[in-house]
Amino acid sequence: MSIIANTKLCNVNEQPDVVVNCAALSVHDACELDPTAAMAINVPSALVKWLSSFSNGGTLLIHLSTDQVYEGTKSFYKEDDETLPVNVYGRSKVEAEQFISANYSNFAILRSSIIYGPQTVSPVPKSLPVQWWIVFLLMEKPRIFTMNSVVQYM
Ligand SMILES: NC(=O)c1ccc[n+]([C@@H]2O[C@H](COP(=O)([O-])OP(=O)(O)OC[C@H]3O[C@@H](n4cnc5c(N)ncnc54)[C@H](OP(=O)(O)O)[C@@H]3O)[C@@H](O)[C@H]2O)c1
Repeated sequence: MSIIANTKLCNVNEQPDVVVNCAALSVHDACELDPTAAMAINVPSALVKWLSSFSNGGTLLIHLSTDQVYEGTKSFYKEDDETLPVNVYGRSKVEAEQFISANYSNFAILRSSIIYGPQTVSPVPKSLPVQWWIVFLLMEKPRIFTMNSVVQYM
């Protein structure tokens, strides 16, 4: 269901105990190309609005954020270190965190580092770091790529 349209969410009447929000536009180049879509998808305003419609606030919202809320100039970031994202994806995730904190009380935000798994195709194809570097190295012509693309896989 679309987390932007909010229509299907409104039709769910039973209150869940826990919601884990994994939805995101997480491909960096796609976020750079369409920052408006990145913000609309990654800031879960419709989800928070729907959860807030249950008056008791009893649903725990677990939101997947990212370590890319940080600038990435050091290791072992702490929760209260300054967030300083270097790309649209990171900025959208910071905005999501701020939106949730300001509008919902029963939440946990996980700033995960990279998660490994099979290559995904949804919403757009996304390679894992090794796959990305192999494709890059096999290219016959030099490719111009943004620092954001590199930062994504560091
Ligand atoms: N993968 C990592 O290494 C990593 C690291 C740190 C944090 N995270 C965070 O962890 C979460 C999950 O990451 P992931 O790698 O599993 O992401 P992903 O493979 O890109 O999957 C994102 C999911 O979001 C859903 N989605 C996209 N646009 C949507 C929309 N408008 N409405 C509803 N659903 C939408 C898609 O669902 P459909 O399949 O139904 O289209 C897709 O399966 C994300 O929040 C990401 O930022 C991931």
